[in-house]
Amino acid sequence: MTTNAQVQVLPDAAAVAQEAAQRFVALAQEAVARRGQFSAALAGGSTPKAMYQLLAQPPLREQVPWEHVLLFWSDERFVAPDDAESNFLLAREALLDHIPLPAANAFPVPTIGSSPEAAAMAYAETIAANTGETMVLDLVLLGMGPDGHTASLFPGHPALTILPSLDVIAVHHSPKPPPDRISFTLPLINRAANVLVLATGAEKAEAVRQCLRPAAGEAALPAGLVRPRPGTLTWLVDAAAGAAL
Ligand code: 6PG
Repeated sequence: MTTNAQVQVLPDAAAVAQEAAQRFVALAQEAVARRGQFSAALAGGSTPKAMYQLLAQPPLREQVPWEHVLLFWSDERFVAPDDAESNFLLAREALLDHIPLPAANAFPVPTIGSSPEAAAMAYAETIAANTGETMVLDLVLLGMGPDGHTASLFPGHPALTILPSLDVIAVHHSPKPPPDRISFTLPLINRAANVLVLATGAEKAEAVRQCLRPAAGEAALPAGLVRPRPGTLTWLVDAAAGAAL
C-alpha cells in the first residue's frame, strides 16, 4: 500500500534533528496563533534527543510559545521517571530542564504505583482531558528502530492487526528491553494533525524502504502503518537511512 508521506532526505543525523526542531517550532507557532495551544507527543531515541537539545537552546528555544505547549509521550518504558531508561528523563534532561514550560504542561506516563494496564488507561484519560474527546494531537513525534518498530509497537504485536479500541496500551515482552512499556496505538497516532517520523543510520535503510516503498506482498512494518488521516505525515531521514529508497 502506498503512503501519503512526504519524505525529506537530509545529509546526516544532525540535519535531521535541525529540520525536525524547526518543524516543531513552526507547528507550535501556527497552532498557538490559531487556537492558543499546541499539543505534542515526544518520543525516545537518539535522533529525537538531538532535536530536543536544539529546542532547548537559542535561537529555537525563544521561538516556541512554551507556556501554551502541552507535552505528552508517544511511548514510555515502564520504569520510574528518574530511571536511566525513562523516555521522560531523556526529554527532561535534554529539553524540559532548559525551557520555560509550566510544570503542569508536561504529562509523563504515570509509571509508578500501578500496573502497565492501569497506567495506559489513565494516560488515555489524561490525553482526552487535555486535548478534547477526539484526542487529536497537533504533533506526534516518532522514532523508528531497525526492525521497523515505532513508539513501542513492535512487529508482530497483536495491536497492529486487531484494531484496538484503546488509544494507549500496555506492551509486555518487548523484544527491545525493557520488556514492559506503554504505547500510543495506531488509531491515536493516526488521528494526529501532524506526524513526524525520524530515522537515521544505515541499519534502518531496509526498514525505511519497506515502510515507504513496500514491495508487493511484503508484510507491513509498524512504522509503515503510520498513516494519519486527514493529518500530514512527514519522514525525515538521513542519507544513510534513505539509501534504499
Ligand atoms: C525505545 C526507543 C525506541 C527508539 C528507536 C529509535 O523505547 O526503545 O525509544 O523506540 O525510538 O529504537 O531509536 P534511535 O533514534 O536511538 O535509533
